[in-house]
Amino acid sequence: MLSFFLRNLDMKKEFIGKIEQIEKISSDAFKMVILSDLQSVKCGQFISILCENKTLRRPFSIADFEKEANQSLTTILFKIKGQATNYLKSLKIGDSVDFLAPLGNGFEIDNKKALLIGAGIGIAPMLFLKKELNKRNIENYLITGFKSRQEVIKGSDRTIIGGTVLDYIEEEIKNQKPQTVYCCAPTVVLKGVDNITRKHNLKTYLALEKVMACSIGVCRGCVIKLIKDKKIANYSVCKDGPVFLGGEIIWE
Ligand SMILES: Cc1cc2nc3c(=O)[nH]c(=O)nc-3n(C[C@H](O)[C@H](O)[C@H](O)COP(=O)(O)OP(=O)(O)OC[C@H]3O[C@@H](n4cnc5c(N)ncnc54)[C@H](O)[C@@H]3O)c2cc1C
Ligand code: FES
Repeated sequence: MLSFFLRNLDMKKEFIGKIEQIEKISSDAFKMVILSDLQSVKCGQFISILCENKTLRRPFSIADFEKEANQSLTTILFKIKGQATNYLKSLKIGDSVDFLAPLGNGFEIDNKKALLIGAGIGIAPMLFLKKELNKRNIENYLITGFKSRQEVIKGSDRTIIGGTVLDYIEEEIKNQKPQTVYCCAPTVVLKGVDNITRKHNLKTYLALEKVMACSIGVCRGCVIKLIKDKKIANYSVCKDGPVFLGGEIIWE
């Protein structure tokens, strides 16, 4: 069924890449760099990797992207969870990776001072966004939170260890005076950020994580409800998202 839909979708989106680099970056997370023919991506988009013996692909945010002549290097950061991520961890430099890309809508970038928020592995798309904002000389500040010192992934301006990053958002809004906020985190943090930034009337982009089956808008397994122009409708996180505007999401 899935292969039927894949055949009928834009097959240019399927790539076979080669692992250029794989390394442990914290107690439970790895960085993987994949060389492939992928030509361009947007910050906030993701790739969906076929993992051994899995009929389903697994989604991972793009943490960096560099063009090299006609090829490119795509970086993902993954946290060990279950079978698929343990399989990825077992791969070596030179091994092949089958992935769909680029998927999803990505972040809109304006020229305004930005506060970036990441919790845990949610730091991955924020590192890519920070790099892009720096390239465009857009002022930004990245705050991240991790459960323990061992789990910290480097690259933030401020790292919260132990507590929740949510407790520091009001303080950083006051200190940094951002005009735009971006966040990638578990649902409970996204929801909290949405509540805080609505209070401050700040434009907010939230990158959602939802268990995905097809990753390409076919199975409707990742649907959420949004309210736009006072109308409620269903949207799929994989195709219409994963980035949605704060204030529009109807949290379950
Ligand atoms: C748009 C998007 C971007 C993501 N980016 C990253 C990333 O950059 N780095 C990273 O480490 N993880 C990311 N994830 C989550 C990642 O896809 C899951 O951790 C991974 O699929 C787990 O697979 P597993 O077989 O190892 O674990 P499983 O044994 O399948 O599951 C372990 C846990 O992960 C959850 N999970 C399983 N499949 C998915 C899925 N497809 N999507 C979300 N949660 C899932 C399950 O509910 C369970 O709690 C992202 C998810 C989405 C939707
Ligand atoms: S995962 Fe199938 S529609 Fe989103």
